[in-house]
Amino acid sequence: MLISALDASPMGRRSRSAHVIVCGNEKGGSGKSTAAVHIAVALLKSGHSVATVDLDGRQLSMTRYLENRKRWARTAGVKLEIPTHFHVPPSRRGVVSDSESEEFRALMDGIAEIEHSHDFLIIDTPGSDTYLNRLAHRIADTLVTPMNDSFVDFDVLGRIDPVSYEITEVSQYAMSVREARRERRNTDNAILDWVVVRNRISSIGSRNEQKVDACLRELGMKLGFRIAEGILERTIFREFFPIGLTALDDFEEHVLGTRPTLSHLAARQEIRHLISALRLPMDDLGRRRAEMRRQFVERSARPLKMPDIFIPAGAD
Ligand SMILES: Nc1ncnc2c1ncn2[C@@H]1O[C@H](COP(=O)(O)OP(=O)(O)OP(=O)(O)O)[C@@H](O)[C@H]1O
Ligand SMILES: [Mg+2]
Repeated sequence: MLISALDASPMGRRSRSAHVIVCGNEKGGSGKSTAAVHIAVALLKSGHSVATVDLDGRQLSMTRYLENRKRWARTAGVKLEIPTHFHVPPSRRGVVSDSESEEFRALMDGIAEIEHSHDFLIIDTPGSDTYLNRLAHRIADTLVTPMNDSFVDFDVLGRIDPVSYEITEVSQYAMSVREARRERRNTDNAILDWVVVRNRISSIGSRNEQKVDACLRELGMKLGFRIAEGILERTIFREFFPIGLTALDDFEEHVLGTRPTLSHLAARQEIRHLISALRLPMDDLGRRRAEMRRQFVERSARPLKMPDIFIPAGAD
């Protein structure tokens, strides 16, 4: 519900629309674009209308991924679901405020075209703190943060004591999500559901992995994010990109261009778990959850305690 998020802001006035999923993490290479395309395809496959926006105007990974998908569909002679897609090119204006307003306008015009005709809008963001990136976080209903399984990646969320592994500080990206959440709540009383996904997990469990996991859980309680079941390091995720496929597409040999392996099946399962962990308003249960969250926030004047406001899976 993007646009109403901007209603009371100095940035614009709009009305209610699609559910917005933002894939964000200021840490580069954490799996945002890969996750964004997989989520888009999952939602298309479940019969929803989906629009996608690439805000990483320099790398354009999501845009290229989807172009490759279109091309592969023609080459292999198969039907592949493609979302309505646009990207926001980086402004070349010299004055920062001019380029920000040009980019803002490009994003809003793009959104205006699709907002009432699509169920979901998925925004892929760059791995850096830009004006558009911050804006995207402010209009998100669901924020998906993939995170590589390492303390280097953890560092953009929180700092830890090297001896006790206790969290000593909330870091810059987590602070900006907090800020986006606060603004969002003040603007249209909605909440941002934040889900962190550990990505590229090693198949051999390590002590480091256990420590990252424990620290993430503690930080999740502090900051109010949920943690989705992780995704393993799998070469197939890298192999998908040039042909634009996802772990959710048909694994017949002529579609995949190679023989499917157990890794394909396991990856599909992981992505399905991720989608279900997001608890999106895809069906009656999801819509009820979203409505419960909305009502909770409306009723409550006290500071948000995230674990209170989610209906546990299976509690319906
Ligand atoms: N689970 C995984 N297993 C193996 N490789 C992965 C996995 N997830 C992502 N990758 C690969 O890691 C690299 C970074 O992924 P991706 O481009 O999705 O990250 P990003 O967060 O969008 O990066 P950037 O910040 O640069 O936009 C890509 O080469 C991608 O194919
Ligand atoms: Mg990317």
